[in-house]
Order: sequence, then structure tokens, then C-alpha cells
Amino acid sequence: MKINTATFVISNTDVKKCPQEKIPEYAFIGRSNVGKSSLINMLTNHKTLAKTSNKPGKTQLINHFLINKEWFLVDLPGYGYAKVSKKARSKFQDLIYDYFSKRLQLVCTFVLIDSRHTPQKIDLEFMQFLGENNIPFSIIFTKTDKIPKTKVTKNINVYIKSMLEYWETMPHYLISSSVDKTGKKEITDYIGGINSSL
Ligand code: GTP
Ligand code: MG
Repeated sequence: MKINTATFVISNTDVKKCPQEKIPEYAFIGRSNVGKSSLINMLTNHKTLAKTSNKPGKTQLINHFLINKEWFLVDLPGYGYAKVSKKARSKFQDLIYDYFSKRLQLVCTFVLIDSRHTPQKIDLEFMQFLGENNIPFSIIFTKTDKIPKTKVTKNINVYIKSMLEYWETMPHYLISSSVDKTGKKEITDYIGGINSSL
């Protein structure tokens, strides 16, 4: 699927104020700094549509982007960022949990995982939360430009092993690099496939 238009719609701290149009919605979630906002820019051919930063904790709101005038991409704040105050952290967490419990038009969530790292408890637990709440998700292993391809494969295999300790099957997964545009076609085609099946 080709992305022809991508426009910023609204930023919110309140899930109730998110757009009410009943169109398919796809959310990007994951630890702070994993590359959610960069991936949205890469997929939509924009440099600054979603705000990015090398400092974790950049995205603090629920950001809706309208794609091809047909569906929403949502950039969310990251979880697991230790350097914000406890109060701010729990506000983030509340916002994220509120979003996932209330947003019924959400058709698929992409959980972003840094391809360089070993499985982290916080991500595994977050995916278990999605599973327990019947929220469909796929995984995207990010920043694959940062390590050799063989290492990406090796790390994904370790990840699969760890996922299978809890899940019966490995959820659908894709790989990405916002630097060399790896995964652009696969991710947009995957979304296009879901959209045409609805
Ligand atoms: P928060 O909004 O803080 O939760 O972070 P985020 O997940 O939106 O991450 P963001 O897209 O802001 O990227 C964080 C940092 O990682 C930035 O310095 C990006 O340039 C860098 N980055 C993101 N994706 C990639 C990638 O695919 N490859 C490389 N090399 N760097 C990346
Ligand atoms: Mg961000």
C-alpha cells in the first residue's frame, strides 16, 4: 500500500477527546526511544510529522495522524522511561492503559522492540497485558541498521524463544530501520492487507 497523504490531526492527554471517526486505527507503542516517532516519519515520507529526539520521553501525548484520508496512525508516549518523576511516569502509564482499554477502533497495535537488545521484562509484560485484553498486536524489531544482519536474526530467534514461554505461537513480526527504510513496504502492505480485510 502506498501512503499518499499523511496529516497531523490532534494531540491529546485525554482518550475521550481523541477523534471519533469510525475508521481503522493503528498504534505504535514501545519503550521510550525505541523509534516509534521515527518509524511513523519513515513510513509517511515525512521528516518531522512526528516529533523525535535522541532523549527518551519525547512523545508525551496521544498523537493522531490521518493517512490517505482513510485510517489513523497513532504515536504514543513510550513506557519504561526511568528519568521522569514517579508522578509523571504514572500519568503516562495511565494514559497508555486508558488508550488501550477505551479505543475500540484500534485494529492493530505495533509493539516496537529494539532489535539490539535481549528480551526485556517490561515489553513482555506489556504484550501480556495486550493479550489479556484481547488487543491484537504485531511486533516490529527496530533499528536494524545498527547491528549486522546476522545479529538481527540471532536476536530475533532469542526473542521468539522467550515469547514461546508464554504464547502458544509467535505473534506476527516485522523488522525496520528508519535510517535505511527497511520494512517500509512490508509494514505498509501489512496495514493495507488488514484494511482491505475489514
Ligand atoms: P519517545 O517518544 O521518547 O517514546 O521515543 P520514540 O520511541 O518515539 O523514539 P524516536 O523516534 O524519537 O527515536 C529515538 C532516537 O532513536 C532518535 O535519536 C532517533 O534518531 C533514533 N532512531 C530511531 N529509529 C532509528 C533507526 O531505525 N535507526 C537508527 N540508527 N536510529 C534510530
Ligand atoms: Mg516518540
